[in-house]
Amino acid sequence: MLPHRTRRHRLADTMRAHGGGVAFAFTAPEVARNRDSGYPYRWDSYFHYLTGFPEPQAVVVLVVDAASSESILFCREKNEEREIWDGVRLGPQAAREHFGFDRSLPFASLDEEMPKLLADRPALWYALGSDEALDTRVHRWLGAVRAQARAGVVAPARAFDLRAVLDEMRLVKDDHEIATMRRAAQISAAAHIRAMRAARPGNHEYEIEAELLHEFRRNGSQSPAYGSIVAAGRNACVLHYRDNTARLADGELLLIDAGCELDGYASDITRTFPVNGRFSGPQRALYEIVLEAQRTAIDATRPGARFIEPHDAAVRVLAQGMIDCGLLTGSLGGVIESGAYRRFYMHRTGHWLGMDVHDCGDYREPGAPASATAPPATTTPASQPPDSGKPWRTLVPGMVLTVEPGIYVRAADDVPAAYRDIGIRIEDDALVTAAGCEIITADAPTSVDDIEALMRG
Ligand code: GLY
Ligand code: MN
Ligand code: MN
Repeated sequence: MLPHRTRRHRLADTMRAHGGGVAFAFTAPEVARNRDSGYPYRWDSYFHYLTGFPEPQAVVVLVVDAASSESILFCREKNEEREIWDGVRLGPQAAREHFGFDRSLPFASLDEEMPKLLADRPALWYALGSDEALDTRVHRWLGAVRAQARAGVVAPARAFDLRAVLDEMRLVKDDHEIATMRRAAQISAAAHIRAMRAARPGNHEYEIEAELLHEFRRNGSQSPAYGSIVAAGRNACVLHYRDNTARLADGELLLIDAGCELDGYASDITRTFPVNGRFSGPQRALYEIVLEAQRTAIDATRPGARFIEPHDAAVRVLAQGMIDCGLLTGSLGGVIESGAYRRFYMHRTGHWLGMDVHDCGDYREPGAPASATAPPATTTPASQPPDSGKPWRTLVPGMVLTVEPGIYVRAADDVPAAYRDIGIRIEDDALVTAAGCEIITADAPTSVDDIEALMRG
């Protein structure tokens, strides 16, 4: 069975367990860039998870009751004139057959059909409160249903957040997703290897970015999963550096955080290596600390562990390393307690990975309030948000998360001169398995010896 169809059945089961109703999800709109040029189109992840249908202007609807469920796709009708300019539109009939829906209808009939579908149904399931225009549209549909009250028609009395249900489903990847993510990870690892081979003093960061993009695209990836970070020397201390314009100097490190998206699934890899192929003493000293932190965090990534355990394990190694090399003074317990290590390690060690690079899914046990969602690894300070007190999520096989410790030493008078402007991160993608975890990005080397040997070759 098509994986998307299986997911629709699973969603229907969950809806049924709560009395059924009507679920719907829109795909993403097209976005104009200027005049008649658009930004590259990328469908909505939730919609695609349930359909696999790639065209814009589409909605999936599930109508579920105790005994049955019906899946309906609304999509664009065929249009020869537009197809001459923009390519094939499957049209409802072919889309229904190809994507395994029970029924299909023209997108243009959505506002007319939805009140009929909602009539006498107990509940609505949609991305509640995520978009004002959507809420207004739903309001109109419900108004149209209520207008038939005298005929005895009843409008849904309850609404559920469809995303919360799909977030739980997306958090644990199915076989189809795992196969795609493994392949995305392999392509991205090959791209990092290509970048290590290409880098030389005198190159520009964007030339190395071009090597990454070349490797992504030649292997069938549709796009990068996020803006590639190619950061030489001190630029590596800017966590979201994205200029990629500087020249690589002899003696500097190059930090690359880049991953491709393949068939809707992200990969996310960081490697840090010397532009001239040889780590200096101080670079190597910090690099070995980060690598040991990563290995320790990977060991802590196993079923039954809490989401935060790999982070806590990495922090202990990093903080001890910072003390040993003179970046910090005091005891391990002291620098962890005071948070002093955050000056050089200010993000979390991982985030969920899937259709989105910072994927959906609650970082706390289900049932936690929505505000308990933890920050993505490299976008939000580790101290955010305030602790909700809810237990961290327990890892189970099929979850995918990144493991990405780092050390970033911005130049300052009070840090040892040898370490100033060094930024290092090592990031891999871990699939939680029954036995522990599988590093699906392992093709890209991380050890000093392996990196130096690859660059010599
Ligand atoms: N590339 C984004 C991140 O590592 O979180
Ligand atoms: Mn990441
Ligand atoms: Mn990354």
